[in-house]
Amino acid sequence: MADDTTDTKSSNQMWGGRFASGPDAIMEEINASIGFDKKLFAQDIRGSIAHATMLAHQGIISTDDKDKIVHGLNTILSEIESGNFEFSRQLEDIHMNVEARLATLIGPAAGRLHTARSRNDQVALDFRLWVKEELQKTEQMLTGLIAAFLDRAEEHAESVMPGFTHLQTAQPVTFGHHCMAYVEMFGRDRSRVRHAIEHLDESPIGAAALAGTGYPIDRHMTAKALGFREPTRNSIDTVSDRDFAIEFLSIAAIAGMHLSRLAEEIVIWSTPQFSFVRLSDAFSTGSSIMPQKKNPDAAELVRAKTGRINGSLVALLTIMKGLPLAYSKDMQEDKEQVFDAAESLELAIAAMTGMVRDMTVNTARMKAAAGSGYSTATDLADWLVREAGLPFRDAHHVTGRAVALAESKGCDLAELPLSDLQAIHVDITDKVYDVLTVEASVASRKSFGGTAPSEVRRQIAFWRARN
Ligand code: ARG
Repeated sequence: MADDTTDTKSSNQMWGGRFASGPDAIMEEINASIGFDKKLFAQDIRGSIAHATMLAHQGIISTDDKDKIVHGLNTILSEIESGNFEFSRQLEDIHMNVEARLATLIGPAAGRLHTARSRNDQVALDFRLWVKEELQKTEQMLTGLIAAFLDRAEEHAESVMPGFTHLQTAQPVTFGHHCMAYVEMFGRDRSRVRHAIEHLDESPIGAAALAGTGYPIDRHMTAKALGFREPTRNSIDTVSDRDFAIEFLSIAAIAGMHLSRLAEEIVIWSTPQFSFVRLSDAFSTGSSIMPQKKNPDAAELVRAKTGRINGSLVALLTIMKGLPLAYSKDMQEDKEQVFDAAESLELAIAAMTGMVRDMTVNTARMKAAAGSGYSTATDLADWLVREAGLPFRDAHHVTGRAVALAESKGCDLAELPLSDLQAIHVDITDKVYDVLTVEASVASRKSFGGTAPSEVRRQIAFWRARN
């Protein structure tokens, strides 16, 4: 389609009516989105089929034209799916690539498809459909990760490990309890995903460019056909809103933060110094120079993916923050951020699910570590409160002296002879030894949500029923 009156470049066949010449090469390069928005082809075609069907139902186009359009669109769908579709950058984006091909396939009837809509509501629709599907996929993947943790928690409801604060040994906990902490985190992520699906479940199509349309369209019909709860209520907001994408990225950022904390724990736990867990060869790599090494690369990459996801969230918030209503082309930059974050999040959840199921838990090592660092000092203080009637502050002081003594003797609290303990406080009896073991310590913490195996099993049962 060379334009012989002005220069060698052709004006755009979709909107070129008032344009004498085509775009400068750099204009085409900055303007085109087909390189990434071709990912939306299936949503674009579904949306167009629903729109054309509604137009015919309302008598806005003929049934004959609608049939040609639907048939043509289905042909294009299979062409793209089978890799037999040539995408053109001159046609800018997925919407115009599909429509131009439709014109080639069915002729003038193709020109009726764009009645009563605009690319502004079209892209809002395609992208919303895509994000909705991605959220549904994320919900399922999180459910898989939660299930992996529930299984490990069940297996290790009684396995004792050190609980940390400041990464210093604090009090003994069970590994099952620690696993259930992640179930809570990913459970919250999953409910955020479910809320986001509720939030975005409104159909944008029919908002047209920004003001709605004079054609007698039925937006409830298209909303229903596309699986949305209802149509959006304000056409200006509809074409200028990308909250659904920002919500997706926020959820991804929070879930990414959780995944990164888990990744960090796996990195620490798998060091020879900790040796709490061992990853199989399936989830680690070797070093090209140090033969003894086994590196937790997958966990490290999950930790790093979080940086990309956060970057995408900040990028889209920044893209949107100063835009006047309604649509501006800036918004075209929304998709790459979401696509990249979605890919990172999927990979990160899949990798962590794999690692949680794969890792070998070294319970002997965890138990030994749980008993070191005077982790049952609080239990001694609690015993003094309960059995000797001391105020907690005094019991804390007495216990501090016992810890100092054990430290100077290079032994554990439970290894101090009774005479030593009685020299610190006369009311201490040999019954105290019952609470100084790590097993007794965890078993005693039966408060709701506490680390006692019985409580951990209650938490597991709650989450199994909740799924
Ligand atoms: N490719 C565009 C985007 O992703 C589609 C909407 C274009 N609308 C417009 N008025 N130029 O945002």
